[in-house]
Amino acid sequence: MINMSAQYRQTYEALAKQIPFEPEICVVLGSGLGDFAEKVETIKSIPTSSLPNYPVSTVQGHQGFLHFANYANKKLLIIQGRIHLYEGYRISQCMVPVFIASKLNCKKILLTNAAGGVNHHFKPGDLMLNTSFNGINIKKELADLIGVTLLEKKNAFIDFPSGSFNNVIKKAALEEKISLKEGVYWYNKGPAYETPAEIQMTKKFGGDAVGMSTVHEAVYASYLGMEVSAISCITNMAAGLSSQKLYHTEVMETAELVKKDFERLVKKIIELS
Ligand code: HPA
Repeated sequence: MINMSAQYRQTYEALAKQIPFEPEICVVLGSGLGDFAEKVETIKSIPTSSLPNYPVSTVQGHQGFLHFANYANKKLLIIQGRIHLYEGYRISQCMVPVFIASKLNCKKILLTNAAGGVNHHFKPGDLMLNTSFNGINIKKELADLIGVTLLEKKNAFIDFPSGSFNNVIKKAALEEKISLKEGVYWYNKGPAYETPAEIQMTKKFGGDAVGMSTVHEAVYASYLGMEVSAISCITNMAAGLSSQKLYHTEVMETAELVKKDFERLVKKIIELS
């Protein structure tokens, strides 16, 4: 049973009154990937602004909706309203979407994100299945939130990614003939993009892509007992690895180009789940 703070409880209770069904699978949509919500049969869309204590997403491309949808006989919760630490929120506020998914009984959660490519075999437009993450830059915040409770648990192991869910994702990519790269997602708090020197360090330490989300959600979802996997859309090469300057608009433009493949892949994952 989750120990709900008063704020979380208020958010959950306001939401529980409105939901059309209990979802099985949650998909959190990353920057520029929000359109996926329109590609499935939406039963009800709840604006996050109508929920008490749900932080307002300030980032372009994160619209602030919880969509209850059907696809391939699966009941879905599609979250178009991720919250990042760099928006100035506390870690507990960033966890609200994952908390909701868990409280509504989602067994699986697929996290998606836009990321900068570090691995020189990658190019903008690639999709990368996360094989692990590096969350060293967010350890303090995570410890503040769930560290004590983790210590109380017999097993404080972070089960990310879920091996069985990753197998489903690989099978889906194979069936859809989508070339799915694999690699380690490296978290940076942002909001500034990394410097070329930071990217060189990331590369030396085994990072394949960098981004500003996902890790806190993966840790919390795993802690709450959900099967969790993550897919990154490589929207740009990371700082210093291409001659182009980095802008959020480039991230959005590349996500736009890859969204057809992304949609096919996520649909197939849902079908096979
Ligand atoms: N760095 C961090 N986050 C990102 C990037 C990047 O290069 N691209 C998309 N999100």
